[in-house]
Amino acid sequence: MITYDPKTRTFFLHGRSFSCALWVHPAGYLVGLHFGGSAGEDDLGYLDPSPRELSFSPIPPDVENYFSLDVAGSEYGSFGQGDFRTPSVLIAREDGMRASRFLYRSHEIYDGAPDLGALPAARGGKTLSIVLGDALSAAEIRLNYILYEDLDVLVRNAEIVNRGNSPMFLLRAYSFCLDLAAGEYDVLRLHGRHNMERTPERTPLGHGSVKIGSPRGASSHQMNPFLALLERETGEDRGVCIGFELLYSGSWTLEAEQSQIGSVRVSGGIGDLNFCWELKAGEKFVTPEVAICYSEEGLGGMSRGFADFLRGHVLPEKEVFKPRPVLINNWEATYFDFDREKLCAIADAAAPLGIDTFVLDDGWFGARNDDHTSLGDWSVNEKKLAGGLAPVIEHCKKRGLKFGLWFEPEMISEDSALYRAHPDWAVGRADAPRCKSRHQYVLDMTRQEVTDYLFARMSDILGGYEISYVKWDMNRHISEFYSAALPAERQGEFAHRYILGVYGLIRRLQAAFPSVFFEGCSGGGGRFDGGMLAFFPQFWTSDDTDAYERAKIQWGTSYGYPLSAMSCHVSSCPNHQTGRTVPFASRGAIASLGATGYELDLGRLSAEERTQVKEQIANYRAIEPLILRGDLYRISDPYRENRFCVAVVSKDKTRAYVVGMCVHAVAGDFDRRIRLKGLCAQKHYRVEESGLTLRGDTLMNVGLLLPRLPDFGSWVWHLQETS
Ligand code: GLA
Repeated sequence: MITYDPKTRTFFLHGRSFSCALWVHPAGYLVGLHFGGSAGEDDLGYLDPSPRELSFSPIPPDVENYFSLDVAGSEYGSFGQGDFRTPSVLIAREDGMRASRFLYRSHEIYDGAPDLGALPAARGGKTLSIVLGDALSAAEIRLNYILYEDLDVLVRNAEIVNRGNSPMFLLRAYSFCLDLAAGEYDVLRLHGRHNMERTPERTPLGHGSVKIGSPRGASSHQMNPFLALLERETGEDRGVCIGFELLYSGSWTLEAEQSQIGSVRVSGGIGDLNFCWELKAGEKFVTPEVAICYSEEGLGGMSRGFADFLRGHVLPEKEVFKPRPVLINNWEATYFDFDREKLCAIADAAAPLGIDTFVLDDGWFGARNDDHTSLGDWSVNEKKLAGGLAPVIEHCKKRGLKFGLWFEPEMISEDSALYRAHPDWAVGRADAPRCKSRHQYVLDMTRQEVTDYLFARMSDILGGYEISYVKWDMNRHISEFYSAALPAERQGEFAHRYILGVYGLIRRLQAAFPSVFFEGCSGGGGRFDGGMLAFFPQFWTSDDTDAYERAKIQWGTSYGYPLSAMSCHVSSCPNHQTGRTVPFASRGAIASLGATGYELDLGRLSAEERTQVKEQIANYRAIEPLILRGDLYRISDPYRENRFCVAVVSKDKTRAYVVGMCVHAVAGDFDRRIRLKGLCAQKHYRVEESGLTLRGDTLMNVGLLLPRLPDFGSWVWHLQETS
């Protein structure tokens, strides 16, 4: 519910178990009074910081008492008005002045969410939109608050409009600012690198800032656009925490800052390193959305909140709850070394096992036999694939398999026909040496002619063959940050325009080919974010397919994202990334905790392993409704314990699927109990594997005995309510 009390000039937003109160100060400043647990619509005037003067905190000229923006809770921090915490916006105007004094002008409340144009946006909800005007310039800011009453999620963004006659320059344009009352907090972030995405790290927030982000032109493996603020005592199942997640895939920043009075400001959005956006008279700049999730049930509650929100309001509606394709991908089976016979043999081996889609990965186009060449030349390599794609697709079809194809649209190889024709289409200056990464350059996605070219080439392929699935990859980060098509004063717009170009091309292709299922990828999980998930119902979680390391990566990813968004494959051993050998059953168990698939040479499997594949797929299909819609409960943390264990419980609590993996075998560890979570205390459940029937509270408080397991051995339990 969203209400406005004109007497006290207070807005109240009530989610399922949180409330937010915003107050319009008599002089017009918008003050955040509360964000936290549910509260009544009382007169919160007693929280007005005015009566107490804090030395060295400037007082704006239009207030009568000691009101200072330095200590008031702000909803969008301004610069140059005595608030010395991090500002949300910094505007350079013609006269060189950068200070802004934003005052309330108007508001509206409406059903649904605002249209963000090119940016990904959450659907549904109810919106409070507050317009603030700058008393010192012609800038106007619209703050949007999208509330989901049945969730504990508030989505926010800001729009900046130039209402004047001369241009202004945005040097920073964050999406939001939230000031929380004084307290002791920890910060959780998800850092990493290629093959090690989304590793959780929790540290105390002291005074000053914890600032995280990616300046790489992509949300990145190195830091995920996610941050959670936890009260000190908060753990996995209990305590207050607030998660922040940007629905954005470009360079970004999130910052938590503890002030002199102990209050905490969380703010962020587009990263402002090298950012400068010219806003001409009458123009509007729209910032990406942030989803803020409140939980009183610890990190687990926050994760379930994000999962419900993303599935219900962000992931593509037409695919989010549908069974996913179970893939065989040839990458780790062949790398670049394949021909028609090899691919057909993989398809032959896949068909009887329950796999339904064959995905041809990198190397099918141009003259690509290694990663030095041909990106940008999106036509079939007939030398390698005699007769082109058609015979392979036909072969798959005959065996009942659909066909999927890999693209890396945003890239260009120096050794390509495209580069020879258009060297200036690569990011950076064609007349100055540029950095390479994986031997490739990045295409300038800010240019219409580039995205038109890609649309045409990809449409030829998608329209010319029966293709049901696309894997959209992106295998390097941006270096020179320069477009030959932008004037000098607009080069600071490059990174944001780049990602808008990417979103635009995906949108155009998806509209033209509505039946094609798109999966995202970026050197594994390098662009795994809420922005990409608005287009791709699932994302390749990591190039690291080692089941033990994957369990950790999937654990970290689950803090902010639903299981169904994680694409998870079984691969061969010794594992190509780590050299480790993990039992086949464990690889299947870990890969069943997401959109499952295979990434190995099925022809090399033993008869026993092939039977296991069949069983694994049958199991996946049986538990898929839980993966798509269920609630995740994290039980044993593989970063801290000698095992990994999670449970996925159906919303009606009649079913649960538990997956665990032991790291190292330990002798004599026979009284180790796994206490389940998320069940209904009074219901009785039968554990399929042991035949035991126990009450929910017994399963949760007494627990089940851990089976004896070898190194990296796994177990699964299927629980079903009995009457
Ligand atoms: C990236 C992807 C892999 C594979 C290769 C192909 O690394 O993450 O899955 O598609 O590119 O070059």
